[in-house]
Amino acid sequence: MIKFLKPMDCGVLCLLLVSFWTGCGTSVQQPVVRPPQIQGASHVGDQVCADCHQAITDVFASSAHARFKVPGAPAGQAGCESCHGPGSLHAQSGMATPAVIHNPRREPGTCLDCHQEIHTKLRLPNHHPVLEGLLQCVDCHDPHGRDIFRPAGGPFYASLNESCAPCHQEQARRFVFEHEAMREGCTECHDPHGSIQSKLLVQGDANLCLKCHAQVQFGSPSDMLIGKVPHGQKVQAGSCWTAGCHTQVHGSMVDPKLRF
Ligand code: HEC
Ligand code: HEC
Ligand code: HEC
Ligand code: HEC
Ligand code: HEC
Ligand code: HEC
Ligand code: HEC
Repeated sequence: MIKFLKPMDCGVLCLLLVSFWTGCGTSVQQPVVRPPQIQGASHVGDQVCADCHQAITDVFASSAHARFKVPGAPAGQAGCESCHGPGSLHAQSGMATPAVIHNPRREPGTCLDCHQEIHTKLRLPNHHPVLEGLLQCVDCHDPHGRDIFRPAGGPFYASLNESCAPCHQEQARRFVFEHEAMREGCTECHDPHGSIQSKLLVQGDANLCLKCHAQVQFGSPSDMLIGKVPHGQKVQAGSCWTAGCHTQVHGSMVDPKLRF
């Protein structure tokens, strides 16, 4: 929708509008609670799981999902089963048939039944191929540990970008001329689940860059300044990275202006 806005036409007003639009766009939808079911099984509570899966139960207390309970389950006791489904059959059979329980690594649908906004994004024209089975929620989210925004076993004090690095080394490596935007994180420019813009970009035009690189106007609108350089003509040639200008948005080995 931001496509209609032409920065060079409306200057400062446009910037205000941009922040207004992006402000609206980031509103987070609440998950609905639709825990997975298993025919013939009932909820037994986390304490039963702890008997055989002590290590997981120990760290789970500080996980985002330990905070809510499945309707109808004993208070504070159904955290594990909110993702894995009611565990009575599995707990009774123990070693014999571990399959009578859901594993969301193989079945992302068990997460998506509650997180429907993520499901919607994963079906947008550009998306991480999670539904196609090429990567999993757990490549980026630790379902049991204290920080669900990092993959399990990853370096805990690392920046969020570290979770993208194993698969996208080209972008996440160190550069001689770094783009400071990278410190804010990959998600400043990319939606990790999906986007209508190509390359999972959160915005498809110059507004992606202008949200941080505030423009200063002097004289006529075509004199728009970015980084003290007149850009009025340049931004009309296309987006900042496709117009043959800042092709190295992630960082450059040779050019401080990220052109090559
Ligand atoms: C009597 C012991 C026992 C109890 C109680 C138990 N489990 Fe298990 N569970 C196992 C064994 C054994 C396995 C198979 C080996 C493994 O993956 O550790 C297993 C495997 C699993 C798996 C992996 C299944 C797969 O197909 O990948 C999940 C998920 C799981 N358990 C969750 C739970 C949850 C949730 C509870 C509590 C409701 C629970 N377990 C209670 C013994 C138990
Ligand atoms: C947010 C959803 C979610 C919750 C809540 C959850 N799990 Fe899991 N669990 C997963 C996912 C996803 C996997 C697959 C992890 C992987 O393969 O890396 C998994 C895997 C497992 C496994 C088998 C693989 C392994 O790591 O040993 C066991 C056992 C298990 N969970 C037990 C539990 C127990 C016990 C609890 C509660 C203390 C719990 N889970 C809570 C999502 C969840
Ligand atoms: C039974 C419903 C349910 C299932 C299944 C479920 N979630 Fe959640 N999830 C929630 C709720 C409720 C919250 C807490 C939202 C809050 O804190 O306001 C949450 C929180 C989260 C958060 C943190 C959001 C935040 O802003 O802090 C992430 C990430 C997440 N879930 C991912 C997953 C993944 C990955 C799976 C599957 C492995 C999964 N969820 C399965 C209901 C569910
Ligand atoms: C490629 C990595 C990646 C994959 C795969 C992934 N996520 Fe995420 N997810 C993220 C990141 C990064 C964030 C934090 C976004 C932010 O801070 O702007 C996030 C945020 C979330 C949130 C919080 C709400 C929101 O929109 O910010 C939920 C819920 C969530 N993810 C669920 C899931 C589920 C469920 C799956 C699997 C079906 C999944 N994610 C797969 C990286 C991923
Ligand atoms: C487990 C591996 C994995 C992780 C982790 C991962 N990605 Fe990806 N990413 C992929 C795969 C697979 C594709 C699809 C490639 C394709 O379609 O050619 C992809 C595609 C993309 C694309 C689109 C590339 C294109 O050419 O269209 C972007 C952008 C991207 N990922 C950013 C991220 C960001 C940001 C993170 C961290 C939040 C991340 N990825 C984490 C595997 C991963
Ligand atoms: C300042 C915004 C910005 C940040 C921050 C950013 N990207 Fe990008 N990224 C872009 C743009 C713009 C493109 C499209 C480049 C093109 O089409 O030539 C892109 C393209 C990509 C692609 C597709 C391959 C390519 O080069 O065309 C991948 C993969 C990717 N980014 C991953 C990441 C990862 C991983 C991070 C964090 C370590 C990250 N990006 C941070 C703006 C950003
Ligand atoms: C999250 C904020 C943010 C975003 C988004 C962002 N940048 Fe930056 N960028 C910075 C910061 C901070 C600097 C370093 C300070 C400065 O030079 O303004 C910088 C520096 C630069 C430089 C080097 C300027 C110089 O004179 O050395 C270029 C070129 C640049 N960015 C281009 C882009 C392009 C192109 C985009 C859009 C794809 C973009 N930026 C998006 C924050 C951002």
